[in-house]
Amino acid sequence: MSLLILEALSKRFGGLLAVDNASLVVREGSITGLIGPNGAGKTTLFALASGFLEPSSGHVIFSGEDVTAEEPHLRARRGIARTFQIVQPFQGLTVRENIAVGAYLRHAGRDAALAMAESVAREVGLAPLLDTPAAALTVAGRKRLELARALATQPRLLLLDEVLAGLNPSEVRDILPVLRGIRARGVTILMIEHVMQAVMNLCDHVHVLAQGRMIAEGPPRAVCNDPVVIEAYLGHGAAARIRAEGGAHA
Ligand SMILES: Nc1ncnc2c1ncn2[C@@H]1O[C@H](COP(=O)(O)OP(=O)(O)O)[C@@H](O)[C@H]1O
Ligand SMILES: [Mg+2]
Repeated sequence: MSLLILEALSKRFGGLLAVDNASLVVREGSITGLIGPNGAGKTTLFALASGFLEPSSGHVIFSGEDVTAEEPHLRARRGIARTFQIVQPFQGLTVRENIAVGAYLRHAGRDAALAMAESVAREVGLAPLLDTPAAALTVAGRKRLELARALATQPRLLLLDEVLAGLNPSEVRDILPVLRGIRARGVTILMIEHVMQAVMNLCDHVHVLAQGRMIAEGPPRAVCNDPVVIEAYLGHGAAARIRAEGGAHA
């Protein structure tokens, strides 16, 4: 079943068509990747899916219902959660309190929200840091906190915007099983990611956006070897140059 369908979405900012007639389908239970060069419109597409931006045209279908005109908090209640590429925790609050902010979506009481926060912290490996002020976290810690805040809303669909950016290879390796575990308990994931090791390891299916348009989709390995995709990343003629050098086997 399709959990999320983006149907011919476009978003115009003044003279710039940041998203241009882009469509994608996220199958329930999948980890789906969204890749593409900087400025391709990936984050804008997430904002359209989660309701932070309204499309110039097109539709957002979640779990069979058209939510295109719905406010972000209503979509959150339906089960759409997103992380932000620019991570901005409440610096003066502890990790526990920051995660609880997300938990208040479904828990009216403080105790229930804090309990939810602790359980999510265990899931993402932040349990030892629950009483640490967010301001004291490392980059890797802040990324986990951003993931935890989204998870605390108990989503059905998690939109991850470059949660691995800025992590070193061993930190990336450490977080892959966390993401697999989240999917294993039934949360569908759509992730924007530049770390190809992670895309290859995690994603069932990958969509490629370039200059606002969907240019390719398929299993990760096939997509990454697609000359159209290589050209989009590296420029015109790149695929032929790589073939000539014999190095197209990522
Ligand atoms: N709020 C906005 N107002 C004007 N232009 C924007 C806005 N948000 C994004 N853009 C522009 O839209 C394009 C796509 O941006 P973005 O979605 O952030 O790309 P990506 O996440 O793929 O790097 C970029 O050219 C960016 O400068
Ligand atoms: Mg972005």
